[in-house]
Amino acid sequence: MVLVTGGTGLVGSHLLLKLTMNNTKVRALFRTKDKLVQVKKIFSYYSDNAITLFDQIEWVQGDILDIPSLENAIEGVTQVYHCAAYISFDPSDFKKLERINREGTANIVNICISYAISKLCHVSTIGAIGRSLNGELADEETEWTRQNANPYAITKHLAEMEVWRGAQEELKVVIVNPGVILGPGFWNSGSGAFFKTAAKGYKYYPPGGTGFITINDVTNIMIALMNSTIYNERFILVAENLTYQRILEKIALAMNKKPPTTVLKFWQLEIGKIVDKIRNLLTGSPRTITKNAIYGLKYTTVFNNGKIKNTLNIEFENLDEQIKFSSKLFTSEHF
Ligand SMILES: NC(=O)c1ccc[n+]([C@@H]2O[C@H](COP(=O)([O-])OP(=O)(O)OC[C@H]3O[C@@H](n4cnc5c(N)ncnc54)[C@H](OP(=O)(O)O)[C@@H]3O)[C@@H](O)[C@H]2O)c1
Repeated sequence: MVLVTGGTGLVGSHLLLKLTMNNTKVRALFRTKDKLVQVKKIFSYYSDNAITLFDQIEWVQGDILDIPSLENAIEGVTQVYHCAAYISFDPSDFKKLERINREGTANIVNICISYAISKLCHVSTIGAIGRSLNGELADEETEWTRQNANPYAITKHLAEMEVWRGAQEELKVVIVNPGVILGPGFWNSGSGAFFKTAAKGYKYYPPGGTGFITINDVTNIMIALMNSTIYNERFILVAENLTYQRILEKIALAMNKKPPTTVLKFWQLEIGKIVDKIRNLLTGSPRTITKNAIYGLKYTTVFNNGKIKNTLNIEFENLDEQIKFSSKLFTSEHF
């Protein structure tokens, strides 16, 4: 039996689909029943048998901050995939980010140690990889620093530290560090922002860039790593390094929208930051254009994907196919 946390999110729901399709016995943690509808929707994108596959999952209500609920979920489990996390770039969310991402991961690590779990797969992010300097590719060994890191990246770095502590305590772990994950269904969070932005046909694009990967690659790699003899390693999961202009252009074209043509100037980003702050003060809406977010949008960070390619002897899926697939679903659900 494997346990999946974050099963109602983008990564977790796609992972559950793969695991059930492989007939793996799977238990998944959920917090509220309403989120299960989303998982059924994801399954229906890929299978005519969505309900049958969904019914193979043993759902357990729980929270990674609630240890008794984790004890209840872990009985009889041999492997754990930890996909649950909180994603926000708003500095005022730091406490919540720290609790869910660091403390929640510490709870998962501790329960895995207590119940002698054979392997833990932890989903981290490229935000927890050190920044590439002067156009050089960042790899798994590039030193991470807190300088200019956003609150989400800081807490994901702290979460990784908890996982490495677990490794010191004899727990076998694999960590994946995906770039922006392209996949359908979660339009209001994570990479969904790229689809929503491209759909609006904005003229402007931010100057920087980052690494991208498809949801299929992420989940296939997680399963392959868990089924291998590999442990106590981390892997960058980036299929391609792209500028924001290029990715928005690809998505806009797939949606028959106008691609962005004009780069946002630094001063425009600064004005956006002030407007965002005022909107936050007046309406309480979450802050998105913060100092560290602007830093991330201004600079291009490029990643070396050689380690995972050589270790598993794989090639990455073409991003364009996933962009077409997700854009079609986005269009059918929004227009
Ligand atoms: N999306 C990306 O582009 C991307 C890129 C790199 C890395 N990642 C990493 O990939 C992992 C999965 O991300 P995602 O995109 O799937 O995120 P997501 O769609 O926002 O899903 C997050 C999941 O975590 C669950 N969760 C949050 N707080 C929890 C708590 N206290 N207890 C139990 N479950 C909790 C959520 O449950 P509810 O449904 O109840 O809220 C949801 O199932 C995360 O570790 C994230 O850092 C994502």
